[in-house]
Amino acid sequence: MPLAFRSSRAPRAVLALWPVLALTTAFHAQAATDAPAPLRAQDVAVLAATCANCHGPDGRSTGGIPQLRGVGEAHLLQRLQAFKAGTAKDATVMTRLAKGYEDEQIKALAAWFSKEGK
Ligand code: HEC
Repeated sequence: MPLAFRSSRAPRAVLALWPVLALTTAFHAQAATDAPAPLRAQDVAVLAATCANCHGPDGRSTGGIPQLRGVGEAHLLQRLQAFKAGTAKDATVMTRLAKGYEDEQIKALAAWFSKEGK
């Protein structure tokens, strides 16, 4: 008897919950595309640290690789987007590197390095 009770009730419970589950999932998908979570400063610092190997400590060049620190944000953004899109004709390594970053991360990196201080 308890077995018969359970098998007749369980599917109805799942059916009753289905619209709730579907709505919750749709809400989350919507939230994810409409408002990407802003990157935290410490996350940008971690991303930017990987650039130091080539662009110098804190983006201050010590050799032939371009300086990033204090360069205009619009210029950095335009260059990074061109690298990612594969349209920068002069690029060697940066095309491959830039493809690994989300658009939001690229924007955050351009803003980060454009600031003189730090
Ligand atoms: C392996 C070495 C290397 C690393 C790591 C590296 N870069 Fe570069 N970067 C270069 C080289 C070399 C160039 C010159 C263009 C080219 O050859 O691809 C360059 C060019 C650039 C430029 C264009 C500068 C200008 O004024 O035209 C920007 C912006 C840039 N890199 C940003 C970054 C950022 C941001 C990171 C970290 C996420 C990074 N790079 C990591 C080697 C590197």
